[in-house]
Amino acid sequence: MARMEWSCCPLSIEMVLDRVKPHLQQSERGTSSKRRRRRRRTKETKARMSAAGGAGKVVCVTGASGYIASWLVKLLLQRGYTVKASVRDPNDPKKTEHLLGLDGAKDRLQLFKANLLEEGSFDPIVEGCAGVFHTASPFYHDVKDPQAELLDPAVKGTLNVLKSCSKAPSLQRVVLTSSMAAVAYNRQPRTPEVVVDESWFSDPDLCRQTNAWYVLSKTLAEDAAWKFVKEKGIDMVTINPAMVIGPLLQPTLNTSAAAIGNLINGAPTFPNASFGWVNVKDVANAHILAFEVPSASGRYCLVERIAHYSEIVRILRELYPSAQLPEKSADDKPFVPIYQVSKEKVKSLGINYIPLEQNLKETVESLKEKGFVKF
Ligand SMILES: NC(=O)c1ccc[n+]([C@@H]2O[C@H](COP(=O)([O-])OP(=O)(O)OC[C@H]3O[C@@H](n4cnc5c(N)ncnc54)[C@H](OP(=O)(O)O)[C@@H]3O)[C@@H](O)[C@H]2O)c1
Repeated sequence: MARMEWSCCPLSIEMVLDRVKPHLQQSERGTSSKRRRRRRRTKETKARMSAAGGAGKVVCVTGASGYIASWLVKLLLQRGYTVKASVRDPNDPKKTEHLLGLDGAKDRLQLFKANLLEEGSFDPIVEGCAGVFHTASPFYHDVKDPQAELLDPAVKGTLNVLKSCSKAPSLQRVVLTSSMAAVAYNRQPRTPEVVVDESWFSDPDLCRQTNAWYVLSKTLAEDAAWKFVKEKGIDMVTINPAMVIGPLLQPTLNTSAAAIGNLINGAPTFPNASFGWVNVKDVANAHILAFEVPSASGRYCLVERIAHYSEIVRILRELYPSAQLPEKSADDKPFVPIYQVSKEKVKSLGINYIPLEQNLKETVESLKEKGFVKF
């Protein structure tokens, strides 16, 4: 019920909470065992995370200067891991300074130069690693040559990294950063009652027909990865996040944070689209848990909530009344409906999502601090 209200009516967050509170109180008894289970799970996760630790373990992160990877490197260092990190240009301070400044970096972060399209360039990085987090893949929409700019780095690049993995006897598990783009883009209807889960796969033909090149790049890359690891007997887990938002560590603006920045920076309209949203810290944590939890397997969808852009704008207006936000949709069509994404599997990893309102606040505060939005 709360989901419908949040997506359709111009309610304030306080009004929504007021409406939801009585229901929460009524169902308190019913949910207390749920809460106890959740608390136990959180405790177990914390225990698991601190017990397992990363001290003495060496892992690799590809594309380390990226938005998600920077958080992953930060949290891995925090947990005591030694991190071998690949960047395309180790001489570019915009790509390295924020990493070298992280706690633990001085002693346990090593930067390597590597390009996804250079055969064998990941061999020396993956060598000696217990875990490989392959996050590097181009993520932007304004492409002129989709094959060269998106598809080759995604697909050939993933196979290139996995080939290096197949040569490393130290390797225990690969965690691949895939995407909801590889899950939910097919011809099945997506409406409020539909629950998308890890058994869904995107349809490459549909991607080609609609010129959804980034979506195609992630779909083909994940598919190629599963085929390769099956053949080589490599243990791989994929993390499939939707739109990732939250604070930026890197000094440059990435595509998903820009989606929020654009709304605040005077866009005349908001897109008529419903996306899943998730915090970058949850995404980075999920990667680490996917490596550390022995029973982790297969794919993990990461979506805190699906929301239409009109809902994102409404929450932003509540949070920042003085911001200039778009009033109308980019087209006159009915709003693209929301749908649901199952949280069951990711809960079993121990992730309890940061809520969308906080994700948006953290994004805007970070964009403000870095000078990407002004109001
Ligand atoms: N952000 C999201 O909403 C989202 C959602 C789902 C999945 N993902 C996935 O998460 C991963 C990271 O995305 P992000 O949002 O963190 O994007 P990002 O900040 O743009 O990072 C992308 C990284 O990939 C690297 N890269 C691109 N082409 C490369 C090449 N040819 N050789 C080596 N490295 C290359 C980039 O290196 P440079 O720094 O040198 O450019 C950068 O470090 C990607 O796999 C993306 O598909 C992102």
